[in-house]
Amino acid sequence: MDLIYEIFDGLPRQGPGDPKSTQKAYSFLGELPLNLNIIDIGCGTGQQTIELAKLSRGNVIGLDNHQPYLNELKRKVTIQGLSDILKTINMSMFELDFEQNYFDIIWSEGAIYIYGLEKALEDWRIFLKNNGYFVFSHITWFKGDYPNDLKEYWKNEYPDIKTIEENIKIIEEKGFNLIKHFKLPKSSWWKYLYTPLEGNITRLKEKYKKEEDKLTQINEVIMEIELFRKYSDFYGYTFFIIQKI
Ligand SMILES: C[S@@+](CC[C@H](N)C(=O)[O-])C[C@H]1O[C@@H](n2cnc3c(N)ncnc32)[C@H](O)[C@@H]1O
Repeated sequence: MDLIYEIFDGLPRQGPGDPKSTQKAYSFLGELPLNLNIIDIGCGTGQQTIELAKLSRGNVIGLDNHQPYLNELKRKVTIQGLSDILKTINMSMFELDFEQNYFDIIWSEGAIYIYGLEKALEDWRIFLKNNGYFVFSHITWFKGDYPNDLKEYWKNEYPDIKTIEENIKIIEEKGFNLIKHFKLPKSSWWKYLYTPLEGNITRLKEKYKKEEDKLTQINEVIMEIELFRKYSDFYGYTFFIIQKI
């Protein structure tokens, strides 16, 4: 197994989030038709995909390009008796192959940075019905005066990080109405992601204590967690609930 997958192995999710925030974002959607078609892009092991299936009882697709994550999602779907409404698909978000105007809702938690927000707003809208919803959580700056080490980190990690206001401007320029936005609570970084990740890291540091390359990669993840511990007032994830005009 690639080290990065080993580091994230067995976690309840692969990005920040929590079921309550998924429910909150869903609650802002207006009246919805029956038999909804929903896609969750970059679903990982699908904590939020399962939540979506329970909330909507529609036809939900969890899309990811890492089959072991999809296998884990399928396992949970079977246990929870959701197999008739939640399907998985192994496809790259860079090669989406669906009918135009097909989805009522495109959902994506913590994965849109992979494709780029502006491009996703441009390229994925053709798959949405008119008045369809696009709901995503995305990394954002919360306030200015960023400490230098934090600025440096994001310059390397995701130089395109923007403030909430800048993102809203882009959303509106690309032909969507902003319905609502809210910040993910800090607890949703810890409970399902960083706390279990710290457990994996302790184990892997011991396992690879003689392999310098691997330790370097592990230390990068430790640094990411430490930055959040120190600077979570400055940045975090924001949920955007938007509608195609
Ligand atoms: C940060 S994780 C977020 C996972 C999940 N949405 C969550 O919030 O827990 C990003 C996900 O995107 C997936 N991913 C990365 N590149 C992808 C691609 N080109 N197409 C589809 N999924 C991709 C990864 O496998 C991973 O599951």
